[in-house]
Amino acid sequence: MTRILKPREGWSRRQIMAGLGSLALIYPICRFVAFKVPRKPTLVNIAKPILTNGYLVESDFVLFDRNGRCWALSRKCTHLGCKLTYHEDQDIFECPCHQSQFHAETGEVRRGPAVKPLVFFPVEKRESDPFYVVTT
Ligand code: FES
Repeated sequence: MTRILKPREGWSRRQIMAGLGSLALIYPICRFVAFKVPRKPTLVNIAKPILTNGYLVESDFVLFDRNGRCWALSRKCTHLGCKLTYHEDQDIFECPCHQSQFHAETGEVRRGPAVKPLVFFPVEKRESDPFYVVTT
């Protein structure tokens, strides 16, 4: 009498163990590849006071001190990263690459193609030198 073996349906134990073993190897590799070292914040000391309702243009940001409020907006365009120009007469930032515009008070997009608002940097105002400390 001969026995006829039927093919097994579904996953075999060997296939399941091989799949779990592959995941156990691939997961740490993916974590390693995707890991980014967090950037350390940089403190920028501003040694001179800003005139009343004035502003100061630095290489990475523009610092405003108006009506008792201080804020610093990044000069990096949120579209593709070009350096923005501040236009005092219109109180806007404009990108030289694709002409996106941003409000200087809110950082909101005024005209695209950029869709994200500008980044605000924390500002600490002091009574003596350094008069402002901006964390970028
Ligand atoms: S990089 Fe600024 S609008 Fe494109």
